[in-house]
Order: sequence, then C-alpha cells, then structure tokens
Amino acid sequence: MKKITKKWSERFSEPTSEIVKRYTASVNFDQRLAMFDIQGSLAHAEMLKKQKIISVADFSAITKGLKQIKKEIITQKFKWSVDLEDVHINIENRLTKIIGAAGKKLHTGRSRNDQVATDMRLYLRDVVDLTIFQIKTLQKETLNLAENHIMTIMPGMTHLQIAQPVSFAHHLHAYYEMLERDKARFQDARKRINILPLGAAALAGTSFPIDRKFVAKLLKFDGVMENSIDAVSDRDFLIEYNANASILMTHLSRWSEELIMWSSPFFEFIEISDSFCTGSSIMPQKKNPDVPEIVRGKVGRVNGHLLSLLTLMKGQPLAYNKDNQEDKEPIFDVADTISDTLTIFAEMISKLTIFPNNMEAAALKGYSTATDLADYLVKKGMTFREAHGVVAKVVKFAINQQCDLSEIELKSFQKFSKLIDKDVFGCLTLKGSIESRKHIGGTAFNTVKAALKQAKQKMRK
Ligand code: ARG
Repeated sequence: MKKITKKWSERFSEPTSEIVKRYTASVNFDQRLAMFDIQGSLAHAEMLKKQKIISVADFSAITKGLKQIKKEIITQKFKWSVDLEDVHINIENRLTKIIGAAGKKLHTGRSRNDQVATDMRLYLRDVVDLTIFQIKTLQKETLNLAENHIMTIMPGMTHLQIAQPVSFAHHLHAYYEMLERDKARFQDARKRINILPLGAAALAGTSFPIDRKFVAKLLKFDGVMENSIDAVSDRDFLIEYNANASILMTHLSRWSEELIMWSSPFFEFIEISDSFCTGSSIMPQKKNPDVPEIVRGKVGRVNGHLLSLLTLMKGQPLAYNKDNQEDKEPIFDVADTISDTLTIFAEMISKLTIFPNNMEAAALKGYSTATDLADYLVKKGMTFREAHGVVAKVVKFAINQQCDLSEIELKSFQKFSKLIDKDVFGCLTLKGSIESRKHIGGTAFNTVKAALKQAKQKMRK
C-alpha cells in the first residue's frame, strides 16, 4: 500500500490521523467490488455523455481509462492505497492520473452513497444467481439419489424413535422440497435486489438532467428506486439475502446431522465417501464425518452475520451513514460460505454409499407397523382410540415375546380382538404399510415415484 499523508480537502486544516485512516478505510475488503464499481461508472459516464453533461471526448477518455484500470486490477498491477479510503476513491484517483482532467468529471451528478449502493446490488445480483444455480445442482443430486432408492425402506422417525416405515426416496424428497422453498425465497429476493439506486446522489438527487432509466437499462436493472433517500440508505436487500441464507443453512445443517448419525456405527445406514472425511491423529480406526460437521458449524457464522446486519441498521437515521460500510464483510462471508457449502454438499450427496439392508433391518426393529394394525381395526369397525389401546397391549405382548408384530400367531392376536383375521398380516409388513399410504404426499412407492418425476419435470423448466 502506498503512503500519502494529506488532508481530506481544503475544508480541513489537519490531515486524518493514521489510526483513524486505518479504522475508517474499507479498501482492504471493498476492493472486491472493483469490477462492479467500474461497470457502474461506465454506465454512468455513458448516460452523462448522452445527456450532454460531459463531452464525447471526455466520455471516450473515461472509458479508455476505466478499461485500463480493469486490466491493471485483473493482472494485480493496481496499487491500492489505504490513504484513498475505499475502492471508489482508489479507482477515481487512478483514473485522473491516467487521463487527467476528464477523470475528475466522472463523479458529476453522483455520490459515493448511491455508487456503493449500486455496487452492492450488482455484486449481490451475481451472488444470488449463483446461489440459485447451486441450489438447483444440489436438488438434482438429491433427486438422482432418490430415484435409485424408491424401494429402499427406512424407519421414519419422530422424537428420534422409530415411528413408521418410509421409502428412503420419500425422506430425500423432503429435502428437495426444503430446497425448493429456499430457491423460491432467493428468486423473490432478487426482485428487490435488482433495482437501481444510482441517481440518488448523496441523498436528495441531483440538479443535473440525468436519465436514470437509461442507466438501469445499461446495467440490466429491472427498474429504478423511487425515492432518493431510500435508495442510498436501504440495506434490506442484504438482510434478506442473509436471512434466506440462514434458512438454507438451517436445512443443510439438519441434513448434516442426519448424515452424521446415519454414518455412525449405531445406525450404519450410509457411508460418506473418504474424500469428505478425516481420520484422528490418535485413534487409527477413526473416520470422522468432518464435512457435515463443519456445515452444521458454519450455520453459526451465517446467523451471526444476520444479527450483525440487523443491528447495523436498527439505529440509523436517514439517509446514508458511515455505519453502512460495515455491511460488506458480513455479506461477503455469507456469500462465500453459502457457495462453498452448496458445492461441497452436492458432491458429498452424489458420492454417498447407502446400505438398504441395514435401513430395513432398523425399520423392522421398532414395531413401526403398529399404526397400521390400529388402522386395520378401525377399518373393521373399532373406534381409533379403542384400537390405539388394543395395539398398545399387542406391542407389549410382542416385546415380552421378543418378536415382531408380523410374527405373532393369529390365535394370540385374536385374544386381543375378535376383529383380527388372517388378512391382518398384509398390513403388518413394512412394504404393506408403505404401499397403503397412496394419497398425495404419502410414502407409497408409486406415489414417491410420481413425486420424483414431477420434481424432475419442474427442474427442467
Ligand atoms: N466506503 C463507503 C461504504 O462502504 C462508501 C460510501 C462512503 N460515503 C460517504 N459519504 N462517506 O459505505
């Protein structure tokens, strides 16, 4: 970083102190916005030329200078300076060095306040498009795995106790649905991200005859912000992205928790590929599910950033305040975390090994067809509450006999209720239980197959 010790402007009689400079500067992290800043400046300059606010010659010089700066940044030749505070001043300063006086005209009718809001929106628009694309990729991997496991039976659980048998594909489809809602939330947030604040200048607008709609069109924004004060001070779009990211991470964290449990020796439902695990430095036999654990851990930082952003905004009077500079590091970290998490998660899912026999054996253990027996009695005329009581007694009997419900003899069954007949065994098997849940959203194999097909078709649209 180059050192220049200079006062801020002629209004000041002393230069800014070194510590204050470092404390208030953002260039170390906002240089990440450089390409968006240049993109915004090019559009602004083009509008200034069209409106005859600057000359054609000045516009050509500005364009040439900005393109050169872009190259310097990409090739890492650009010298960033903390003395020049942020990405905006660094670039404008360099522009003036390259092209002279014309560089000083670029800021006509603009302020860093509407400039930075524009940069953040351009940045987040790209981010949200990537997030949506990555969610779709994870959804595809989820559906691919599900398609191979329609007939795989697992114990569905409530309270982490064996509840009722379900198709493993049905369980996976639940995650697909959660991701579908996540995707919709990001798509909806994009509508509010993609509105142009530029033209608001510092807060009140500008006396120059600007054409904001023209700039919006050049930058592919869907519209312009209707109030200049709101345009420079609004950071809802960042909070919304972060809130959506928190919900997405919550889903991935719940899924991670299941992957961790399922891969433990107590379950042995799945094996996570070696490339997603690590060993222990002391226990040679260990293979730890690090990736899902770290996903579960990373929710903390994403939720933390959400709280940072909400707190950042809560006491701010209108319009722009320097507080807003603190919006960048949290949102950059959220975006990076989400992108890495989605990439790695999709790959991990595509490489899972499933042990269907172990899943089915677990489903057999917990009297998971007890509800089916109760439903059977109801269909024969008993009330549900009464049936619930009868089946509880049957389960107690089976526990004492150390056998499954399907292994109880008909004669023994009939001691509990005369309504029970030999057709009872049809509903006591895991398959029979699953197959009977045929309504929309149920776990019957064919229903799940149809749900997966519908999901795949929706993804192709
Ligand atoms: N670095 C500032 C930020 O990130 C840019 C806007 C500064 N505006 C100002 N009036 N100081 O918010």
